[in-house]
Amino acid sequence: MNAHHDIQSICSPRPGPKQPVILGSTGMVGRSWSELFDRLGINYRTAHRPEFDLLNPEALGQCIRSGDDLVINAAAWTDVDGAESDQQSADQANGHSVRIIAERCKQVGATLIHYSTDYVFDGTAETPYPIDAPINPSNAYGRSKALGESKIRESGCPHIIIRTSWVYAPWGKNFVRTIASLAKSKPELKVVSDQRGRPTSAPQLAQTSLNLYSKGACGTWHASDGGECTWFDLASQIAKHINPSCTVHPCSSDLYPRPAHRPPYSVLDITETESLCGPLVSWRRNIDEMLKAGIAEDA
Ligand SMILES: NC(=O)c1ccc[n+]([C@@H]2O[C@H](COP(=O)([O-])OP(=O)(O)OC[C@H]3O[C@@H](n4cnc5c(N)ncnc54)[C@H](OP(=O)(O)O)[C@@H]3O)[C@@H](O)[C@H]2O)c1
Repeated sequence: MNAHHDIQSICSPRPGPKQPVILGSTGMVGRSWSELFDRLGINYRTAHRPEFDLLNPEALGQCIRSGDDLVINAAAWTDVDGAESDQQSADQANGHSVRIIAERCKQVGATLIHYSTDYVFDGTAETPYPIDAPINPSNAYGRSKALGESKIRESGCPHIIIRTSWVYAPWGKNFVRTIASLAKSKPELKVVSDQRGRPTSAPQLAQTSLNLYSKGACGTWHASDGGECTWFDLASQIAKHINPSCTVHPCSSDLYPRPAHRPPYSVLDITETESLCGPLVSWRRNIDEMLKAGIAEDA
């Protein structure tokens, strides 16, 4: 037992899951888990809308069955700006419904892998956020995800909460696909250079999450790609691949006012995850490989 501090520990290594279930299997992270289990030949169940609806808490427990040993909750209210005008629904989906899922996991003896966000921090730091840094969300989505974290800890269910950031995949709604599509047709793009973070490949995140599970991680962890950048750096790398004649210019966030405040410095400290699971591939290499392999034209 190697206790780093009160919210993180390493217990005994776990055998491969025998009866896992993926909640939110249609999202970027959920689909990455499905593809990972397919590759590994692991049988799994999935649950998604309309049967599984975080805004319909009465039916949630039924998606977790006796014998389930691993529940992956990849479902969430992920509309960051939309949460500002409907905090109640975001809190239900990302907080109160997560409590029901966690309690059900405890009842059947399943480990819960749950995703949280860099937005639980306020982004005023200048060095990467360690796992035990004080949380202080600066927008409604961040508050709803912080609520989910605390509900899981209170439930007492065996869990791994994985905070991640700036998720992208070859499919789904994400920044990489948006910029790739714009770069094809536009000669110039302006992209904000005053927000710094760590992009995260959804397929690598699923693999890292499974590694954390197998190696006996418990409590709260951080996972992203290696390296850090601004949205401008990321867009420049994408445009270079898609259309080198598209010029990307840096700009300030003031140019694109959004309902939700975005933390200026959103870099998660991934040292402990890398110590346990090995180095995480850098965002530049993951982006290069993903764009070389091709991305879906539509979601
Ligand atoms: N995307 C990011 O940049 C980012 C950053 C930090 C943390 N995270 C966290 O990472 C996790 C995975 O997100 P993702 O990146 O895979 O996002 P995503 O692609 O937007 O997927 C979200 C998933 O949640 C489902 N969902 C949304 N509302 C639901 C509801 N009311 N009931 C049931 N399912 C619902 C969606 O289902 P439909 O297909 O039906 O819409 C989809 O399967 C989430 O916990 C998210 O908070 C994401």
